[in-house]
Amino acid sequence: MAGGFVAFSGDSPAFQAKMTVYVFICVVIAAVGGLIFGYDIGISGGVTAMDDFLIKFFPAVYERKKQAHEDNYCKYDNQFLQLFTSSLYLAALVASFFASATCSKLGRKPTMQLASIFFLIGVGLASGAANMYMLIMGRILLGFGVGFGNQAVPLFLSEIAPARLRGGLNIVFQLMVTIGILIASVVNYFTSSIHPYGWRLALGGAGIPALILLFGSLLICETPTSLIERNKTEEGKATLKKIRGVEDVDEEYQSLVQACEFARQVKDPYRRLMKPESRPPLVIGLLLQLFQQFTGINAIMFYAPVLFQTVGFGNNAALLSAVITGSVNVLSTLVGIFLVDRTGRRFLLLQAAVQMLSCQLVIGIILAKDLGVKGTLGKTEAMIVVILVCVYVMGFAWSWGPLGWLIPSETFPLETRTEGYALAVSCNMFFTFVIAQAFLSMLCAMKSGIFFFFSAWIVVMGLFALFFVPETKGVSIDDIKDSVWKRHWYWKRFMRQEHDV
Ligand code: BGC
Repeated sequence: MAGGFVAFSGDSPAFQAKMTVYVFICVVIAAVGGLIFGYDIGISGGVTAMDDFLIKFFPAVYERKKQAHEDNYCKYDNQFLQLFTSSLYLAALVASFFASATCSKLGRKPTMQLASIFFLIGVGLASGAANMYMLIMGRILLGFGVGFGNQAVPLFLSEIAPARLRGGLNIVFQLMVTIGILIASVVNYFTSSIHPYGWRLALGGAGIPALILLFGSLLICETPTSLIERNKTEEGKATLKKIRGVEDVDEEYQSLVQACEFARQVKDPYRRLMKPESRPPLVIGLLLQLFQQFTGINAIMFYAPVLFQTVGFGNNAALLSAVITGSVNVLSTLVGIFLVDRTGRRFLLLQAAVQMLSCQLVIGIILAKDLGVKGTLGKTEAMIVVILVCVYVMGFAWSWGPLGWLIPSETFPLETRTEGYALAVSCNMFFTFVIAQAFLSMLCAMKSGIFFFFSAWIVVMGLFALFFVPETKGVSIDDIKDSVWKRHWYWKRFMRQEHDV
């Protein structure tokens, strides 16, 4: 993610590098940042389904919930309740621009440390909240943590990884996000029966990984790229030797120095992003974020327990179903890691679009037919809905989930890579915010039609992937212009104009 610029050390697997224990430790510590993000995504749905929490902060929602049989779809519709979930993403959006600056001026490591400090204060405020303002303030600070963490961690991982492992390590971040979501749903499940402060424990749980990140980040090194970028060339070289576990790092070091010098020559990367030759990665990178969120995934991730209660599960059954979908999410992300460099990106995007579309349509039909506004769902139908949600999550987890992050990280040329990626991150946070803020009201207004709404988006994104997303599997990251854009039936027109600009 952004940080002035990313100077990946080329794609050359020829650089000598071992996967050292030290790099492994650095990767594990940094990836805890992804885990905190996932935990925050997963925890809010469970907490907002807990009665003690609703009674304390949202009594009106609690009253409506008690009369649930009167309107299945609207019992949770409350702007403040949604703000509790969504404020985090709005804060993250704003923070990612500041984080981009700290990443390049101070380095990746201090940016991660800042993230963990925001996380810790945010956790303290949210879990100790005496009123709604403290609660929302806590979520905003957690959002700053997410903004700083999501900027620094993937960048750190990409820069520290030996080139041949970079793709896989990129998806490790997404894997940690899914593990965080899963842990959150297990925590929700157990804390929901601790009265009256189970929700405080659930929100406070994020403090543990935040502490691990804070103390762990004292052990890790700064990336060689960041050191060289800030003219600490000797230190950069020494660090490179340490993380690669070999003495002869000259070739990779030279390539980093060159990459840094080249990137320095581009004085205004944001302006460069507006030029026609930047159009393909920019349009694809930004639209993938919109599409990733309009698959409807976070309607499920944030609100799974709420959603399952809506379709007729009891409190505990709903939380348990969220644990099940969370596990499916983790396991299917592993499938994604395995498949992404074998089947390629396009196949996964298209295959998953068909899978997700079918699930959404059938869920919509079952709910429209059998649930109605005041009815309840039979046991069998409810089971079928859970299974379909799982198959839907599976599809997302091996495609639009990780690829939404991977494709923008590998399609921008070096000189605009971090800026392009920063825009993609903010765009993702923006649409995540939109879904978090709007979903429960949309559910209330559209009823089961919400599933047809997301289905329509899946058709659009499937067509977009079919016609506009080229295959980037195995393409060298710095050769993408010649081997991909210039050969693509549509994007090549922007390449031709390059010399006119
Ligand atoms: C998305 C998140 C989502 C998560 C689910 C990520 O790729 O960006 O918004 O909650 O996947 O696993």
